[in-house]
Amino acid sequence: MRPSTIAIDGPAASGKSTIGYHLSCYLSYLYLDTGVLYRAVTWAALDREISIADEAAVTHLAEGLHIDVMPSTETDGRQYTVRVEGRDVTWAIRAPEVDAAVSPVSAYSGVREALTRRMREIAALGRVVMVGRDIGTVVIPDADLKLYVIASAEERAHRRQLERQTKGERAEYEAVLENLQQRDQIDSSRAAAPLKAAPDAIIFDNTDLSIDEMLKQAERLVDGLDPNGCM
Ligand code: DC
Repeated sequence: MRPSTIAIDGPAASGKSTIGYHLSCYLSYLYLDTGVLYRAVTWAALDREISIADEAAVTHLAEGLHIDVMPSTETDGRQYTVRVEGRDVTWAIRAPEVDAAVSPVSAYSGVREALTRRMREIAALGRVVMVGRDIGTVVIPDADLKLYVIASAEERAHRRQLERQTKGERAEYEAVLENLQQRDQIDSSRAAAPLKAAPDAIIFDNTDLSIDEMLKQAERLVDGLDPNGCM
């Protein structure tokens, strides 16, 4: 029987969202990239000029903020639409200012509690692929299948750089690598729900795989097959 709840965790630009989105289409499941919730709170704090260092104010914001994540409403390359208080922020939450501020916001335990509660409500419905940093360890520790997706920091930096350049943004390799390493460091050393593999997660290293190979292997994993077996 195929897993109903699939938890996918891993560091930034490791391929976890690409895998998660693909699997959700393959299985016709709901897809939730939970990083967008942390990004939406961060975006709203910046938009309202709330200091990111003000933990109480940011937590209060997270507890009351109306965030909707829904199937894509536009044909501009997005996988889904994110609205904050009705405003479409799908691309705004990917801005470099949000990148720079999202790790401290996601380290606040009150913010995590508020957002984890929403994630669990969604997971309880089943037939879901949920992607993040602590899905298999904290949000749905009883998920039917857990993947922990990794790739080398250099490979991840190349991918992120390419992604930025494709969008017409400037992206220096060294700066992208440094930003990724800083975020890895904050995400894995924070006290609240640090980034780490659940003991029962399958470690999925895709450093040397093409996107096609990576997605085929992921399909085989949900089908209960050896990912490296005959295609
Ligand atoms: O995956 P992403 O880059 O969009 O995530 C944005 C930030 O949110 C990142 O710093 C890690 C954090 N995050 C988290 O702490 N827990 C999650 N379940 C998802 C994301």
